[in-house]
Amino acid sequence: AVPGQLKGKQVLITAGPTYEPIDPVRFIGNRSSGKMGFALAQAAQEAGAEVILIAGPVSLPTPTGVQRVNVETAQQMLDAVTAEANHSDIFISCAAVADYSPAKVEANKIKKTTHDKLILELEPTTDIVSSVTSQPDLTLFVVGFAAETRHIADYAREKMQRKKLDMIAANQVGEGQGFAVDDNALQVFWTGGEQLLPLAPKSQLARDLMTLIIERFYAKNST
Ligand code: C5P
Repeated sequence: AVPGQLKGKQVLITAGPTYEPIDPVRFIGNRSSGKMGFALAQAAQEAGAEVILIAGPVSLPTPTGVQRVNVETAQQMLDAVTAEANHSDIFISCAAVADYSPAKVEANKIKKTTHDKLILELEPTTDIVSSVTSQPDLTLFVVGFAAETRHIADYAREKMQRKKLDMIAANQVGEGQGFAVDDNALQVFWTGGEQLLPLAPKSQLARDLMTLIIERFYAKNST
């Protein structure tokens, strides 16, 4: 990305996992490190944007010049995104949001019992990126992510359509790639095009992806 290309634009980014509480000491989480989302926030800031980073529980320093909002649960992330979405120009949904959360949070620590099974009831969380794209009169350019173990291109394209995204960045997870690692490769799709961003450190990959996002963002907004 060229410095200043996103001057005057607001970029909203979600990053990291969400934690869904079971009781006061336990939660359901995932292995997302937040590195890709934080690297994207830095790349957008370097391109001149005003950046709002909605971060799940991760131990990463806030990139210089980026406004960070810490959240823990999918519901809190949804609320934070909803508050910022309509005055943003670009939304990059990089967070690994929990798909389910416990139907009931126990007020006290669940004790071991003599029964050998414990059944947790889970209910689906709201799909944050879809809740944004389903708003009428949407002008925001929306980028989603897809972490897949197989059939990457097919699943990613299907997800882009179903979630009404402008662009989707897909990565293969597993075998030292994707989650909680430093290097990653991305297959990026948009309506009418695709590009492979080969294996690179996430900081480099984030700059390359930001270049693509900026290109497509201005292409969309010039028509
Ligand atoms: O359906 P799947 O979780 O694979 O979709 C991934 C994309 O959807 C990512 O961009 C992720 O940030 C977003 N997502 C979301 N809210 C959810 C689940 C996923 O915004 N509850």
